[in-house]
Amino acid sequence: MDLPWGEERTKQFVTNVGLITSNGPYGCDIMACEWTHQVSYRPGLIAVCVNFGDATHTNIAKTKEFGVNLCASDQNVLSSISGGYSGKIYNKIEALKELGFKFFKAKKIGAMMVEGAAMNAECRLFKKIKLGDHTTFVGEVIELYPVKTKDVLVYHGQKYWKTGENIPKPLQDELERVKGIVEKHRRN
Ligand SMILES: Cc1cc2nc3c(=O)[nH]c(=O)nc-3n(C[C@H](O)[C@H](O)[C@H](O)COP(=O)(O)O)c2cc1C
Repeated sequence: MDLPWGEERTKQFVTNVGLITSNGPYGCDIMACEWTHQVSYRPGLIAVCVNFGDATHTNIAKTKEFGVNLCASDQNVLSSISGGYSGKIYNKIEALKELGFKFFKAKKIGAMMVEGAAMNAECRLFKKIKLGDHTTFVGEVIELYPVKTKDVLVYHGQKYWKTGENIPKPLQDELERVKGIVEKHRRN
């Protein structure tokens, strides 16, 4: 089966928005990538799934490095611009600078990094896997910056959200009851 973009059931996924920065044949670029996930602790690996036709795809394939900047909740416009225009046609970094967004030079890769992001990581390509109609670029983190804001942008149902209320843990009595039942079903 296919799972097309915008289909009611695929809209149930909750993701973050990775702002993927690169600097290659298309120059300095930034794209929005909701399919951005940490996939290993040791070593620290982050996977980003990028469409074959994107400037970012060509840039990463050529340079074997990229920046992952997790979009903060006050950066939704940055996400829409990065995701709405292609670096093949537009210099998005310069346009975004003119709009007031700030960038800084990465330490170990040639790309720019996003100031005020919820997380910044510089990655060296670890593995490139063609999966369906996207390429999953797995990057090994080679530089990680201190977190300044933890307020990450949430993407769900093609809309941006802020993290909401924290769901409290059940009371201790209930936790004990649950534990008792699970223990009864331990495999021997
Ligand atoms: C919120 C949002 C999330 C997106 N997530 C992805 C994604 O996970 N993978 C992908 O290939 N494109 C994704 N896109 C689309 C790309 O960002 C878009 O094609 C962009 O123009 C590519 O830029 P580039 O050609 O400069 O690399 C997303 C767009 C938006 C607005």
